[in-house]
Amino acid sequence: MIIKFTELKLENFKVHEDLKVKFGDLTKIFADNGKGKSTIPESICWLLYGTDTLGSKLDPTPITYEAEQTLVQLLLSVNNKAILLGRGLKKGKAAQYFINEVPSKAKDFNEMVEKLFDRNLFLSLFNPSYFPKLHWEKQREMILQYVPSPANKEVLKELLPTQSELLGNLLKKHSLEDIKKIHSSNKTNLDKKYIAAQSRTKTLKEQLDQLPKEVAPLDSLKAELSQIDKQVRELEKQYDHSADVNREYNIVSAEIQSLQDQIDISKHNWIPLKNEVIDECCKTCKRPLDEESIEAVKEDKEKRMEQYKANHNALLKKRLELREKLNEMEYIDNNELMEKIKKLNASGQPLREAVQKYSQFERLQKQVNEAEQEEKATLESLNESILILDTIKEYKAKEADLQAEKVQSLFTTLSVRLFKQNKGDGEQKPDFEIMMDDKPYSKLSLSESIRAGLELRDVLSTQSDIVTPTFVDNAESITKFKEPNGQLIICKVVAGQELKIEVDGE
Ligand SMILES: Nc1ncnc2c1ncn2[C@@H]1O[C@H](COP(=O)(O)OP(=O)(O)O)[C@@H](O)[C@H]1O
Ligand SMILES: [Mg+2]
Repeated sequence: MIIKFTELKLENFKVHEDLKVKFGDLTKIFADNGKGKSTIPESICWLLYGTDTLGSKLDPTPITYEAEQTLVQLLLSVNNKAILLGRGLKKGKAAQYFINEVPSKAKDFNEMVEKLFDRNLFLSLFNPSYFPKLHWEKQREMILQYVPSPANKEVLKELLPTQSELLGNLLKKHSLEDIKKIHSSNKTNLDKKYIAAQSRTKTLKEQLDQLPKEVAPLDSLKAELSQIDKQVRELEKQYDHSADVNREYNIVSAEIQSLQDQIDISKHNWIPLKNEVIDECCKTCKRPLDEESIEAVKEDKEKRMEQYKANHNALLKKRLELREKLNEMEYIDNNELMEKIKKLNASGQPLREAVQKYSQFERLQKQVNEAEQEEKATLESLNESILILDTIKEYKAKEADLQAEKVQSLFTTLSVRLFKQNKGDGEQKPDFEIMMDDKPYSKLSLSESIRAGLELRDVLSTQSDIVTPTFVDNAESITKFKEPNGQLIICKVVAGQELKIEVDGE
């Protein structure tokens, strides 16, 4: 895009009551101080944006004379297409806007201008002092928009092969920023986890150290113990058998005892029966009984005595039989066996305790091993995250170098610093500074800063492919400079000179 100014008309704009400026490839404005040279480029910025050449709000209403209306009109061409823009201020009224002489709304006018060219870009191209006054972030953004950041592949090539492989693989899945987030948070967590793992290993080792070292190995202890348990079980079997035998014997003994009791009771009943008197009178009416009845009573007694004898003898016979049976039965004395079992069991007790202790030792040993493994694994992932974070730092440094190189290649005499090193973590932090001969822009003399500004605006113009007029104010302070690519307007102080405008190359 090529923008050219053709003609500027000022009415009652600050000192200029009525001024017409025709522009050429080179337009020279000569005058003594205070004659209104700088006001000319300023009026163009006011027309477009309502500001001065540095972008600050401006009211150009004359203060040294009375005027009804301030009006600026600029005939310009954009890619050879002519446009006439106008902005006016009527006393006490809202601003007026004109596009090709048609009164327009502020919104339409501003939209039209903004569509032609970006405000910051135009002001930077038109006024070489504008860009260096912008905030460094804006300056950086404007320059970097023309310099694509280096591709991952390009940066990886600059790293050591191991670093390049490590990060290259991670970049297949995540962005660099995400990898950084993941591993920063990993590192924080793993730092804590590692400390915890170390203290757990230490505690478990201390517990293990407190257990006796000279414990027999578990297998031989268990073998010995099972030998004892086996013997105990065998003896218990014998004991159970003896108990079964003795139970049978005791049952028969108890039966004999029960018979003995019955025999004793029976014996006791014999005497009263034998001595029973035969009554000769009736038991109820006391009348003497006859012969026959007496005989019957006698017979009854005889009968009962017979019965008693039979009964008693049966008991005696049964007792005899049982006694004979008992004589043939076995009774085993198992008290000694019981004692033996108790003793044997007791002999196994220390072994049992030893087995328990050794199991505890083994369990603790296993826990120590696990804790050591965990500690090692944690340290490994921690180191991995640290390595990745260091590699990212390295990557960013290389990326910054590459980007700086690319940006630098746009300039001929200036150097541009895009990063500065963070004091804390040594990381590259975005920054922006223009340097000329190792001096920052802010420290340059007027002539140096004009030269620097011209080089900057040329880079922006080349990169954006927009050519605009440039004005160099205070051109008397600079002996020689490289001419910008578009129209040039220079303002020069000449002592005692009234405002004079010369046009070359028209
Ligand atoms: N609103 C205004 N009305 C009238 N004169 C003004 C106004 N604002 C500034 N001036 C004066 O205009 C004169 C011209 O300024 P300037 O364009 O900077 O001159 P030069 O660049 O030629 O030295 C100065 O003397 C300044 O005081
Ligand atoms: Mg001036």
